[in-house]
Amino acid sequence: MATEENGVSDRSFLLGKKTDLIEAKRTNVTVGERDLIIIHHQGTFYAMDQHCYHAGGSLLNGDIEEFDSKLCIVCPKHKYKISLEEGEGLYKASNPREKNPQPRWYSKGIKQRVHKVTEVDGNIFVTLSEVPGWIESDYYQTEKGREELKKAQDSDTADGSKC
Ligand code: FES
Repeated sequence: MATEENGVSDRSFLLGKKTDLIEAKRTNVTVGERDLIIIHHQGTFYAMDQHCYHAGGSLLNGDIEEFDSKLCIVCPKHKYKISLEEGEGLYKASNPREKNPQPRWYSKGIKQRVHKVTEVDGNIFVTLSEVPGWIESDYYQTEKGREELKKAQDSDTADGSKC
């Protein structure tokens, strides 16, 4: 059973100094064989799986915007919106069955696994999520998912070298 002190447990990993992570704003890290992105935005740290649940796009350079009163990262690849707090997928649509359809935000549920960030004495730790069950972003943390990402990167590199 995990022991916990100051919000840090034996499933927690030291990421580095708070000041360095604030300066970096976004940091890619691999902890416990999991690829994560650490984000510092408006005074708060967030951690989530690094590869977007949709097709594995890197979230490192995604814009952060508010949708439906939730801060979200927008995946640069196909613009999917993912809430920073919960990893919820959000989309906007209108219901054609309504008399006067107005676009509004809907939730797809939790799609991206998020992790807990804790500060202790100026150091930042991440504790990997223990939420049970499958969350879609888990796929890109598996061997099969990683192979798929590598193939996509290799083909991007090959396409680039033809120019
Ligand atoms: S890979 Fe992120 S939106 Fe498609």
